[in-house]
Amino acid sequence: MAIGGQTGPLSLALTEEHEMLRTAAREFAQREIAPVAAAYDESGAFPLETARKMGEMGLMGIEMPEAYGGTGMDTLAHVLTMIEIAKADASHSTILSVNNSLYCNGILWFGTEAQKREWIKPVASGEQIGAYSLTEPMSGSDAGNMASRAVLNEAGSHYIINGRKSWVTSAPFADRIVLFTMTAAEEKHRGITCFLIDTSQPGFSRGKTEPKLGIRASATSEIIFDDYACPVEHVLGGVGQGFKIAMTVLDAGRIGIAAQALGIAEAAYEAALMYAREREAFGAPIGTYQMIQQKIADMKTRIEAGRGLIYQAIIAKERALATGGRYTTEASIAKLFCSEAAAYVTDEALQIHGGMGYSKELPIERYYRDARITRIYEGTSEIQRMVIARNELGIR
Ligand code: CAA
Repeated sequence: MAIGGQTGPLSLALTEEHEMLRTAAREFAQREIAPVAAAYDESGAFPLETARKMGEMGLMGIEMPEAYGGTGMDTLAHVLTMIEIAKADASHSTILSVNNSLYCNGILWFGTEAQKREWIKPVASGEQIGAYSLTEPMSGSDAGNMASRAVLNEAGSHYIINGRKSWVTSAPFADRIVLFTMTAAEEKHRGITCFLIDTSQPGFSRGKTEPKLGIRASATSEIIFDDYACPVEHVLGGVGQGFKIAMTVLDAGRIGIAAQALGIAEAAYEAALMYAREREAFGAPIGTYQMIQQKIADMKTRIEAGRGLIYQAIIAKERALATGGRYTTEASIAKLFCSEAAAYVTDEALQIHGGMGYSKELPIERYYRDARITRIYEGTSEIQRMVIARNELGIR
């Protein structure tokens, strides 16, 4: 089967290590996260305590080498963990995803040895929270069109950063941020540079925290740069390389969001399955009626199709990392399909539960709200379709 324009064996083996990690993540998620998920959703508070515990378990830098504070595993390990954590609570999986993927990956792939040691370790080990900042109030999908600026000072020692970034996941609690901003606006996307930001430094502040429909315990805010002086040593991957870094990192991130969507869908599906077995109407369990059976069959089919697409994207990614190719299309397909499957499955799970699905007494309505963001962040469904179609057509 052809993946990413290449042919090769299509297989993905779960090792004993993967099984152990999955079991550990599942037990932890069900024991520590699931019981507090509703309360965090209600209050919108950031779950710093359980986030730290995820770090202690080695879940915050799964793909990072042990030398940089990580667990030294692979993309499949990250995906299996994302699914288990998202099944318990999507907000926790969002925090996990940003630390693991959006923050750490770019530094691992584009950083100098000194940058990797200084910037990956505290976040991969879970001692600190990381964030990734691309979006601005007037540029979301059109990521290359930025108003924020970084200007080299006369001494050539620091970039002076000014501007406002928005929708930065984990920003209210982030210690470190991978920031994308313009160093040469006339060069458009080729004028974007990536900077490593220490949020304790002067010139950095946080704006309003977004009140959100779902993933309410994953804090999201604006961040503001007012003459923030960033040492030139904290440029990641070279001046003007920012857009490529941002896109490369998003390719990996989108596989993680696909896994998150799948985890939310699985949680909703399993609840619906149990309800369909137990709830009786007209003298029989509702699962004995064909209209419910059709929903169950369609939900399960979408979940398994999504899992298959995620596994294809993982294979394509591991191959690309080894050969230097890209897996953009496979990542976008997995994210597009799984996020839309999660919308379908959570909606049908709510329908199967009837009034109880609409009640805050059960987690079904939370799954329904949490699933919605997966069609928006790390590239909307419209952007995924654009990416897939452009790559298929060979046009830009
Ligand atoms: N990998 C590597 N390079 C890539 C790439 C990829 N996946 N995609 C594009 N590029 C390169 C191209 O090769 C091209 O390089 P050259 O300059 O050398 O020719 C360059 O980038 C520009 O490419 P395009 O002309 O295709 O760029 P575009 O302006 O048309 O935009 C886009 C492409 C796909 C629409 C992109 O802007 C995009 O993905 N937009 C969505 C952004 C997004 O996902 N935002 C979410 C941010 S994170 C978030 O949600 C918040 C959070 O905290 C979780």
